[in-house]
Amino acid sequence: MIGAITTGAIVGIGVVAVVVLAGIFFAVAALRSPARGQGRLDSAAMRRDAARRKLEEARREAEERASRPVESTDLVQAEGSELEAAGAELATVEATDVEVYAPPVAPPDPVEVGITRRRVLNRGVVAGSVVGLAALGGASVAFLIPAPTKGFGSKVTVSTSLEEIKAKILSDKAPYYVPEGKFYLMTYKPQNEAEAEVAYKDIWAGVKAAGMFALYQKCPHLGCKVPWCQSSQWFECPCHGSQYNKAGEKKGGPAPRGMDRFPIELSGGSVTVDTGKVVLGPPVGVDTISQSPEGPNCV
Ligand code: FES
Repeated sequence: MIGAITTGAIVGIGVVAVVVLAGIFFAVAALRSPARGQGRLDSAAMRRDAARRKLEEARREAEERASRPVESTDLVQAEGSELEAAGAELATVEATDVEVYAPPVAPPDPVEVGITRRRVLNRGVVAGSVVGLAALGGASVAFLIPAPTKGFGSKVTVSTSLEEIKAKILSDKAPYYVPEGKFYLMTYKPQNEAEAEVAYKDIWAGVKAAGMFALYQKCPHLGCKVPWCQSSQWFECPCHGSQYNKAGEKKGGPAPRGMDRFPIELSGGSVTVDTGKVVLGPPVGVDTISQSPEGPNCV
């Protein structure tokens, strides 16, 4: 679950990064495009042309009126002011144009504009592809790196101390169940220690030190969870009736062996069980505690 969320988050971040970077790239490319200056040039030229037309019109009207008889002094003065204003406006527009566009900009070559746009587009595609591949590569690498695991499949340290666990098993007359590790802790005292050491040689050091087994809850027959039967003091599987004594050694049913188990380590009074290493249960016939059912069986 943790691994799946982490991978999904990484892929999501990769996709978002690709989209954001592509957006930034195209925005920058658009800002740098020479076609953007074109609109400003046309607008300035239009203002200049309008001012010239206005001046020409004022001059023409003044000439026409000069050829007619004088109607009034005020009118002549008004015409003069109008002419002066139009001239001043044209001068202002031309001065502004010179300031903004000096030296004069040659009109863009349409072929060159086309090439530049294609170049920007090509670079955008290449940059987007590179970023996308990098994100995909990063996500793939992250997917291949195993996420740190907790709980079942890793080493599980039981929060209760060894002594408290043993006391609880004794008082409940039941194994101590650790759900996050999917195992039962059950005290173990073999009748013959030498025989037990041979039967459980792969995990013997930890079993002897702790005085208990860590039994995998999964039935070796077809995988059902094997519950504890309080009345018989055995583990008894309800699926097909396999039975195991409290050391997890097979006593009846179709199971091919005793219950599987995990290595135990002791450290400063606390128990750590490595649920990443399943040790197969003992063969049918191994019985190191000779425990008969202590009451009615559950299955
Ligand atoms: S799964 Fe337990 S007996 Fe079949």
